Amino acid sequence: MKLKYLGHSAFEIETSNGKILIDPFLVKCPDYDYSGTTDIFVTHGHADHLGKAPQIAMKTGALITAVFELAKYCARYGVNVNGISVGGWINFDWGKVIAIPAFHSSSTDDGVYAGCPVGYLFEIEGKRIFHAGDTCLNSEMKVLGEVYKPDIAILPIGGHFTMDIENATIASDWIGAKTIIPMHYNTFPQINADIELFKKNISAKNKTPLVLKFEESVEL
Ligand code: NI
Ligand code: MN
Repeated sequence: MKLKYLGHSAFEIETSNGKILIDPFLVKCPDYDYSGTTDIFVTHGHADHLGKAPQIAMKTGALITAVFELAKYCARYGVNVNGISVGGWINFDWGKVIAIPAFHSSSTDDGVYAGCPVGYLFEIEGKRIFHAGDTCLNSEMKVLGEVYKPDIAILPIGGHFTMDIENATIASDWIGAKTIIPMHYNTFPQINADIELFKKNISAKNKTPLVLKFEESVEL
């Protein structure tokens, strides 16, 4: 499987039988080719996460998975939706996913309540990848580490709206993943972050900081 960074909190996961987009806000990769997308996961309703999810689903026929209220909002565009909540594993052809609580807010730009914000833990081809969405440091991360044992954690580090580097470093310990990928930084002035400090902090925890450039991918 291949994981590609599309800027801000947007990622693509390409598996042998699926092309998954997470939080497709694509201002950093405006020419990204989303054709062939089979699934879109949205962590919450804010515009920098919902992005072009409905439009991409309209063009590709991809299934949008999101918390019930947000899925219902997306259904207004006439696309296929899969309303979920924090709960149990959800099965797909390419693996399974569980929604993890995030501590944040969630509404759309036009003022519609979008349910609770979440992160997603993916299990694909024997690997567990956690995308935290927008969240502060929270004790659910200890549960995540103890119960679900992610291999890779994608964490927001920009502060102001989410965890900053200091708290993401603590989160990396609680979650227990060996590889930590930063997101949600340097897109807007409020979320500027010192990426060298991130690398130093994560390395000091004996973990691998994996900083991806826009449209860079890694084989997992
Ligand atoms: Ni947000
Ligand atoms: Mn955000």
